[in-house]
Amino acid sequence: MDSTIAVIGTGYVGLTTGTCLAHLGHTVICVDVDVEKVAGLQRGEVPILEQGLDELVQEGVRSGNLTFTTDTPAAVKVSEFVYLCVPTPQGEDGSADLSYIQEAATQIGPHLQPEAIVVNKSTVPVGSTRVVGAALGRGDVYVVSNPEFLREGSAVQDFLHPDRVVIGCDDQAAAVRLASLYLSLAAPLMVTDPASAETIKYASNAFLATKISYVNAVAAVCEAVGADVNDVVLGMGYDKRIGHEFLRPGPGWGGSCFPKDTRALIHIAEEAGYDFDLLKGVVTVNDEQFARVANKVVEAAGGSVAGKTIAVWGLTFKARTDDLRESPSLEVIKRLVALGAHVRAFDPAVHRQLEGIEVVDDPYGACDGAEVLVVLTEWDEFRWLDFDKVAAALRQPAVVDARNLLDRQSLRRRGFTVAGIGRL
Ligand code: UDX
Repeated sequence: MDSTIAVIGTGYVGLTTGTCLAHLGHTVICVDVDVEKVAGLQRGEVPILEQGLDELVQEGVRSGNLTFTTDTPAAVKVSEFVYLCVPTPQGEDGSADLSYIQEAATQIGPHLQPEAIVVNKSTVPVGSTRVVGAALGRGDVYVVSNPEFLREGSAVQDFLHPDRVVIGCDDQAAAVRLASLYLSLAAPLMVTDPASAETIKYASNAFLATKISYVNAVAAVCEAVGADVNDVVLGMGYDKRIGHEFLRPGPGWGGSCFPKDTRALIHIAEEAGYDFDLLKGVVTVNDEQFARVANKVVEAAGGSVAGKTIAVWGLTFKARTDDLRESPSLEVIKRLVALGAHVRAFDPAVHRQLEGIEVVDDPYGACDGAEVLVVLTEWDEFRWLDFDKVAAALRQPAVVDARNLLDRQSLRRRGFTVAGIGRL
């Protein structure tokens, strides 16, 4: 059944959601306040790096299934479903700032068709479905929680091949209507109440962050006992109850979700009278991981980075994205600059200057006269660069590989000293 859908907000989540729903055959109108952005999208220009998204946007624009506008009322009036994909940034006290979503709800309320379904796609605190319902000021529409589980860099894949679709709604008929949009996706679909759906999202993200903090803590133990964390997590992962996913040690987790969602869940728990100590520990381990990696660089530089150039490969919060938000790389760099280092960085997806960092477009240029090379994101292309050229550019052949990405034995044979995470 093809439906008409309005999507409010064309960020990572909104643009991917709207484009993929159009790809499934629905008629989708994406709304954004940014006139420039809307004009670019109408021309098929995609402002974010998401594998496969360009093709689907152009397909949707060509077929007429996908249109873009700044006119919220016009889009809402003709739509049976209205997705809210606006930001829910982290407030000062860790709570999620709902002002954008309340503003959007207030705007669309008067223009909704009777029986329309408003879909909360943004990650919102438990109980927000009620908040949105109140802001709509309508008694003849439904509000449904439908959390997104999209990873940046694989958002299209994650939308079209989800592990599950979660619908949180107290009205069964509305839940069935929303579920019908996803029927062509071969994925488990569960219907629950809104609070449970919202909690599934937070609890899932917080658990993924917990897995990563856990493996980074195990990596610290491995360093102390002389074990190799890569083999340790391989041995652990064969246990189906643990699995191999999300056990890669690194500089810590970042991005637009984990930091915000872990702090929001801690806050939600506190509001509910529960002190989520375990999750606080996960956040603490992550903050400490930035310092641990910075210390490895200081050690590789002979005990001080003051007045020295440090080469960095990788600025975004992970590979295959251009997103710098809450990037662990920037956290590590901040600590090195505070210790007096001059940081020169290369990232295949970043071509603009950043405060306090010399950004260059050439991985070898980043190494010119540098004391140490630090690898902070896991771009596969870093593995195939010419390390004889790297050694010739560096003042000394020293690498800190914060993603255990490179072949350390091969580098050592070329005379490099290599410090990894959780392995000697
Ligand atoms: C995450 C969730 O995966 C996704 O389901 C949710 O909808 C949004 O938040 P995203 O933030 O895009 O997605 O990135 P993700 O791939 O989860 O990585 C998050 C951080 O963890 C990155 O900094 C990444 O480098 C780090 N990470 C991930 C590790 O350090 N080790 C791992 O094994 C996996």
